[in-house]
Amino acid sequence: MTQSQTQRFSFSLEATDGKARSGRISTPRGEIRTPAFMPVGTAATVKAMMPESVAATGADILLGNTYHLMLRPTAERIAALGGLHKFMNWDKPILTDSGGFQVMSLAGLRKLSEEGVRFASHVDGSKHMLSPERSMEIQKLLGSDIVMAFDECPALPATEAEVAKSMQLSMRWAQRSRDAFGDRPGHALFGIQQGGVTQDLRAQSAEALRAIEFDGYAVGGLAVGEGQEAMFGVLDYAPDMLPVQKPRYLMGVGKPDDIVGAVKRGIDMMDCVLPSRSGRTAQGWTRRGQVNLRNARHQDDPRPLDADCTCPCCAKYSRAYLHHVFRAKEMIGGMLLTWHNLHYFQELMAGMRAAIASGTFDTWEAAFQIEFASGDI
Ligand code: GUN
Ligand code: ZN
Repeated sequence: MTQSQTQRFSFSLEATDGKARSGRISTPRGEIRTPAFMPVGTAATVKAMMPESVAATGADILLGNTYHLMLRPTAERIAALGGLHKFMNWDKPILTDSGGFQVMSLAGLRKLSEEGVRFASHVDGSKHMLSPERSMEIQKLLGSDIVMAFDECPALPATEAEVAKSMQLSMRWAQRSRDAFGDRPGHALFGIQQGGVTQDLRAQSAEALRAIEFDGYAVGGLAVGEGQEAMFGVLDYAPDMLPVQKPRYLMGVGKPDDIVGAVKRGIDMMDCVLPSRSGRTAQGWTRRGQVNLRNARHQDDPRPLDADCTCPCCAKYSRAYLHHVFRAKEMIGGMLLTWHNLHYFQELMAGMRAAIASGTFDTWEAAFQIEFASGDI
């Protein structure tokens, strides 16, 4: 491969098994093995983790947030300090979300218009504006490798007419995002499909995005309280509406069984705060299900959280110790359990990639479901 080819963003599909796919995204900052799980580093840190530790769990890419970083410390300040990678000491790829979704869930007073959204900061109440153009500018200042189009995700409950109107606005914003992004070799722009749980709206959204042409396509507007059954219902058709040769990213998902179900239905990338957030609240995720380390049954237990896990937490610390440090509110509790959880999520992805490559995804999934539901922890 020539230098200029390696500098470009590309996706190669390496194996498929049913609808499940495995492959590789190449970027100037490194390769992303898919299906990929992206840890969330909202405020220029994956909370409780050193960046080298995040990499050691097997993460090829992490997610940052336009909304949080524009408010604090500001995108201009990060740009002046050399960009987000340098600022947070993470040299692998970064995907940034575009801000609209976070404005809707976190900001104070909001005013939505064709132009964009005006809102008050949840940090200090100061007034700000986000539009497709401003979101593209911020994500460029951050130096994001994968930039997300600026979209709107309607708050539930919403009528079908409201979802349709919102999706159409997001598609006009998708075109403006594309125009404002311009041509940036080595950087990718992903469109975001909306349309709630209505198949026809999802089809219209996919058609609009395909006409604009993006480097990848996200399925947005899910995991917002509709439940796993409804989400899988949409994922039974939504990924098929997107181009086969481009990466497909399911935003904000999820629990291990959500992730497995999404990959089974043709999703290549996911992100979620779950492993890191639950690591700080004593919730451990293992191949045998979820466990609360604050529970008194762990108080005298010398065994590791998961004897089969090779993470530093399971290699060197007992459940009794984890129980103690969570009870005593010691910071190392969140540090150890976040590491374990991120390690487990990455092992889950590695297991799926291997199963897809060897054409054994169905067998792998059956074993996963039985063990995960066993609760034998
Ligand atoms: N994160 C989770 N869901 C969404 C969505 O629909 N849009 C965006 N931009 N981010 C998300
Ligand atoms: Zn572990």
